[in-house]
Amino acid sequence: MDFDKEIARRRTFGIISHPDAGKTTLTEKLLLFGGAIQEAGAVKNNKIKKSATSDFMEIERQRGISVATSVLAFIYNDKKINILDTPGHKDFAEDTFRTLTAVDSVIVVIDVAKGVEEQTEKLVEVCRMRNIPMIVFINKLDREGKDAFDLLDEVEQKLGLSVTPLSFPIGMGYDFKGIYNIYEKNINLFSGNSKKNIEETIAFTDIESTELENIIGESAAQELRDNLELVDGVYPKFDKDSYLKGAQQPVFFGSALNNFGVRELLDCFINIAPSPRPKMAEERLVNADEKDFSGFVFKIHANMDPKHRDRLAFIKIVSGTFERNKPYLHVRHDKKLKFSSPNAFFAEKKEIVDISYPGDIVGLHDTGNFKIGDTLTSGEKLNYKGIPSFSPEHFRYINNADPMKAKQLYKGIDQLMDEGVAQLFTLELNGRKVIGTVGALQYEVIQYRLEHEYGAKCTYENFPVHKACWVEAEDPSNDEFKEFKRVKQKFLATDKQGQLVFLADSQFSLQMTQQKYPTVKLHFTSEFE
Ligand code: G4P
Repeated sequence: MDFDKEIARRRTFGIISHPDAGKTTLTEKLLLFGGAIQEAGAVKNNKIKKSATSDFMEIERQRGISVATSVLAFIYNDKKINILDTPGHKDFAEDTFRTLTAVDSVIVVIDVAKGVEEQTEKLVEVCRMRNIPMIVFINKLDREGKDAFDLLDEVEQKLGLSVTPLSFPIGMGYDFKGIYNIYEKNINLFSGNSKKNIEETIAFTDIESTELENIIGESAAQELRDNLELVDGVYPKFDKDSYLKGAQQPVFFGSALNNFGVRELLDCFINIAPSPRPKMAEERLVNADEKDFSGFVFKIHANMDPKHRDRLAFIKIVSGTFERNKPYLHVRHDKKLKFSSPNAFFAEKKEIVDISYPGDIVGLHDTGNFKIGDTLTSGEKLNYKGIPSFSPEHFRYINNADPMKAKQLYKGIDQLMDEGVAQLFTLELNGRKVIGTVGALQYEVIQYRLEHEYGAKCTYENFPVHKACWVEAEDPSNDEFKEFKRVKQKFLATDKQGQLVFLADSQFSLQMTQQKYPTVKLHFTSEFE
């Protein structure tokens, strides 16, 4: 019984946005509500503001911080809330994609003035494909921005969502008066400095009441009534099941910086957002309330303390309980492992825990046993699906710059690839090693870490490739596939798992190849049905 209760009270989610939309600010305000932190400014901003030439120490410093903020947990109204941090910088987008495999829902933050931006589009697309329930928060209403209806249209069109506003702004920018909460049927007035009186709301069950004029003035009252009528006429009613299926996305308006509209968002969120959802393994669907433990690694973080070279593997618990000092099966290695000091996360701290439940994240100290996507169980041979590698867009040959340190270099590359920093391909033709990444910044990180953590030196050489695609032959024995392999040999490689990869040198050659060899399927992620 307690076990079921623990599952039902958990909400594990991620906040996604384009950099600068207000993700960090919103996270911080949510933590304030949970009483998990005492003051603003406690959540470190781990975004990388500089461009590709940012200095390494900065990267390292920020990576160090992001261990602490990888998972932020707090209790609010008896709900255990786990926020999984997603890096905003586009060069670390793959990390974010992987983290999205461990969330049960997301909140999408959009800047009222900038509207839907590039990074939001990419991340929302991933969530949409997986039917992850999403709530949209339109931020910075204290500033001049786009018209609310235009924004809702933009969200529908650019993000392919089906929205329903659960709150609506009264004015904007200089004239911002507050927010009507459609979900709770009340008005929250904006005082310009509502940090002090965040609880000030006025219940309004009847929007026709003349009280409205007294409070927000005649013209604003009329405009609000008109807007709400339009909302009622144009948008579908909120339907929790549709939201949970990923078919409808409620929208809230507010200002994270002013802590305005955040409580409304949080209160609705804890009511409607899903508790840990079932997850598909290659073998079967696994439900959270199954008694036997299972979980998977979605992130690996190197320890920045030079005295402790071990890494921290982040496990999302899918089913059962994870207990300290109990042996669990590492499925890929087919061996039992015990963990004497699993870390749980609370606010911005981590601490050792005895027991964790589905939805929770535990950090396990690891000396090289884990790689991204590994499954741990009580004994059943399960392999969780859904942590694909994404098609890299940057490619470079990697060369050993210090022949005395070849062993260190290979060990370093091997471990960094397991962490998911980048992908290693071996060319079919000559066995040369190529590193593929989603963002160019990754090359600096790899070079720096190889040197500082493994004592190895590398150099890069440009390799002009447009995209890497995973190859699937409908019939590996047919002549078409044989010809494909012969003609394209120069462009073929294998990834670390031994899967065949086609390295297209241009969009044109990619298209031509697809046309010429229709039974050879080219995929943009490493996992396909
Ligand atoms: P991110 O994590 O999504 O990248 O965004 P972050 O929270 O860091 O916010 C980006 C900038 O937008 C910050 O200003 C932040 O103060 C501001 N901001 C967030 N929410 C609101 C809001 O509701 N209204 C207004 N007007 N601004 C908001 P900055 O100057 O870039 O950073 P800082 O120096 O204030 O930290």
